[in-house]
Amino acid sequence: MRIGVIGAAGRIGRMRVQTILENPKTSLAAVMDVNEAAAAALAPGAPSFSDAARFFDVPMDAVAISTPPHVREALCREAYARGLHVLTEKPLAHTLEASRNIVAAAAAAGKVLAGGFNMRYYPAFAYVKDIVGSGQLGEIDHVRVYGGHNGLANFGQEWQYKAPQSGGGAMWDVGIHMTDMARHVMGDITRVYGVLSERVWKIPGSEDNAMAIFHAPDGVAATYHATWTDWKGYSSVIEVYGSRGMVRGAYAPMDSLLITMAHPGGKSRTVHNRYLDVKVNEKLKSWTHTAVKSFAAELEDFLDLVTDGSGGRIADQDAALRAIEVAVAVRESSKTGQAVTLAPLGSAVAPSPSESAAPASLDSSAA
Ligand SMILES: NC(=O)c1ccc[n+]([C@@H]2O[C@H](COP(=O)([O-])OP(=O)(O)OC[C@H]3O[C@@H](n4cnc5c(N)ncnc54)[C@H](O)[C@@H]3O)[C@@H](O)[C@H]2O)c1
Repeated sequence: MRIGVIGAAGRIGRMRVQTILENPKTSLAAVMDVNEAAAAALAPGAPSFSDAARFFDVPMDAVAISTPPHVREALCREAYARGLHVLTEKPLAHTLEASRNIVAAAAAAGKVLAGGFNMRYYPAFAYVKDIVGSGQLGEIDHVRVYGGHNGLANFGQEWQYKAPQSGGGAMWDVGIHMTDMARHVMGDITRVYGVLSERVWKIPGSEDNAMAIFHAPDGVAATYHATWTDWKGYSSVIEVYGSRGMVRGAYAPMDSLLITMAHPGGKSRTVHNRYLDVKVNEKLKSWTHTAVKSFAAELEDFLDLVTDGSGGRIADQDAALRAIEVAVAVRESSKTGQAVTLAPLGSAVAPSPSESAAPASLDSSAA
């Protein structure tokens, strides 16, 4: 598959370039970045551009879009207009409307949209998903998810925390991976109650904390906390509790715990994985070692999703969209004090009113 990368010079874009170059089933068709020189240096032999129209003139089958969220809609729409499949970073876009427009464009083109929830591939989180799927925990009762870090100290650029570009705060950043992980293990999230706060960093529209309860149609509930005020540092955790045990996956450091029993309260068996290989590699090479491995596995699943619709663990368009809808619903719930009901996904997504309006600008200076 010939894949182009947009935002190729960024932290994530360069990892996408690396995984495409390393995968024998893919070739790097072209790179594009407003910083064309940096993108060109990463991809010797591939044509490089700072102009979207010229980039899209290169023959290719798919595009990976690793830009900031606020410029994504126009790029996705152009990709679909050119008949390409799209793998895009999280969050899908900076607004619900833009996200819905991207999904509608994918549907109209009949092409794949995959959302970059690569934490599904982190060994501890993949373990949680697989244990839940194995049935070892008995009947699943509830889920707990947490994603946090110490906020603005983590960001080098304003777009990363200002809502008009990022979409919002902790829920749109580290937290959106855990919104997705909750949905990944519990099924669709169709009711949301939540509370937000913006008391610490005071960035309008960018929550410091989001605490919520998610409901799946079968009655399973998840408690959720995304934060930019975890003064201890970066951490993501999911725990799933069933009638015959629990499983926990966490990062960083990578760690998982499984407790199972024959009947509720019976003698328990414990399995604790500490992923020493991950820790050694991160010590020697940095966290990007873990990230690149996850992007490589995600790329394999993207190829399958395009080829035969299977796609393994990959986050499909429903996953990418629902994570945005949940973030918006938590904000709405926090304002009204009421729970928000979300229509089950899987049905056709109606284009939003702006769908018939002029497409968003492809001007890369919008970054
Ligand atoms: N999955 C993960 O673990 C993970 C981690 C960090 C960031 N992200 C997401 O990846 C995306 C990129 O984040 P990043 O940290 O790599 O950002 P970054 O700022 O390092 O890189 C973004 C790149 O996009 C380029 N760019 C901006 N506007 C553009 C445009 N209109 N056309 C072409 N190029 C453009 C920039 O020049 C830059 O090189 C964001 O959506 C972010 O939320 C995902």
